Amino acid sequence: MAVDCFVVNPSKELKGTATVPGDKSMSHRAVMFGALAQGVTHVRKWLPAGDTNASLGAIQALGVQVDRVGEGELTIHGGKLRESSAPLDLVNAGTGIRLLTGIMVGQPFPSILDGSDQLRHRPMNRIINPLRLMGANIEGVNGYCPLTVKPAALHGIHYDLPVASAQVKSSILLAALFAQGQTVITQPGPARDHTERMMQAMGVDLVMEGNTVTLTPGKPLQPMDFTIPGDASSAAFPVVAALIVPGSDITLTNINLNPTRTGIFDVLLEMGADLTITETGTEAGDPVGTLRVRHSTLKGVNVGGEVVVRMIDEFPIFMVAALFAEGTTTVRDAQELRVKETDRLAVMTAELTKLGANITETADGFVIKGVQTLTGATVDGHDDHRLSMSLVVAGLVAAGTTTVLDAECAADSFPGYAETMGSLGADVIVRDLRVVS
Ligand code: S3P
Repeated sequence: MAVDCFVVNPSKELKGTATVPGDKSMSHRAVMFGALAQGVTHVRKWLPAGDTNASLGAIQALGVQVDRVGEGELTIHGGKLRESSAPLDLVNAGTGIRLLTGIMVGQPFPSILDGSDQLRHRPMNRIINPLRLMGANIEGVNGYCPLTVKPAALHGIHYDLPVASAQVKSSILLAALFAQGQTVITQPGPARDHTERMMQAMGVDLVMEGNTVTLTPGKPLQPMDFTIPGDASSAAFPVVAALIVPGSDITLTNINLNPTRTGIFDVLLEMGADLTITETGTEAGDPVGTLRVRHSTLKGVNVGGEVVVRMIDEFPIFMVAALFAEGTTTVRDAQELRVKETDRLAVMTAELTKLGANITETADGFVIKGVQTLTGATVDGHDDHRLSMSLVVAGLVAAGTTTVLDAECAADSFPGYAETMGSLGADVIVRDLRVVS
């Protein structure tokens, strides 16, 4: 049950400089790959959030020693996993369970991987099927977790991914480390490539050519020392807030600019956003930079095809941007949104409608005609971090007060969200519903 809510009021202009917590995708991978590496891996600016803590807890349950130097700095003593005495609990983390299953199918001991009720509703056949093709002994419950894994000899496969999913690709690549022979994966679109980049940096024999990835097992992972950049998906919330709150001018530093993650910025630029992106360096193989965003008159846009996978997590906040763009915005090819933490097309449409929005939901996207006006109301985040945070941004430009139930789930990817937005001038606080005033 939700115990905290966000209380949001219309904001004066957003100003100032901030950064956002470390990249969630890279943080999951850092603890898992560090656990597999032969030696000690150091990670700075690791994301201490609900989802990534679940992956860290599972890795520790597998006997890996992880020293925490402050919240966001980890020392991982990798090299050997041992059987966990209890099921591995990945809580709400889809990335956590799908990637870790790829590792577990290659171990000489059994395991059970499970999570929250929400995670038990997310499809697992997308990993079960290819992992079985590799010889894995894995059982789900009608295609969902808990997943029961038993030791089996694995062999490499040639696999055409039916969906452009980095989680599925990564699960197969992790299993491929423990297989006999090469694994070749072809993806229908440019799903995020953090696994490939990190594996290469850790010495794995992995080649990327267009949409094909080839992994030849045999080389042990070498430990790494790296700093995780700010998550572009988290940056998208203050970016859209600054674009739609009149008078705003903000700067976000140290943001991951990996091109498989920046589709949202490309589309906002196409809509006329006053957004300047300056590359300042690289971290762990990814370009990193600064975003300067000023309030802008946005124009409607058509979104479909390859950019969809490069902004797959940003559609809830993009819906809010589209409400404030002149003309029609149409999104297609985004049916994957229906199997995220929630059915993000249906749930986001329903919640924004409570604020007075008019959105036409389609099978694989939505149509929005702007510019619209919103009125504050009580809305529900449905235990979906990106929904809660998007509804907060909508509240900044709604008349009156907006209450977003389920504030605590924001910490699945963006701990301190209200504080960061508040530091830029947003009128948003977290209220504990258990406190009777
Ligand atoms: C992720 C991949 C994406 C994304 C998720 C993180 C990853 O999921 O939505 O938030 O870290 O690999 P899919 O691969 O299922 O599209």
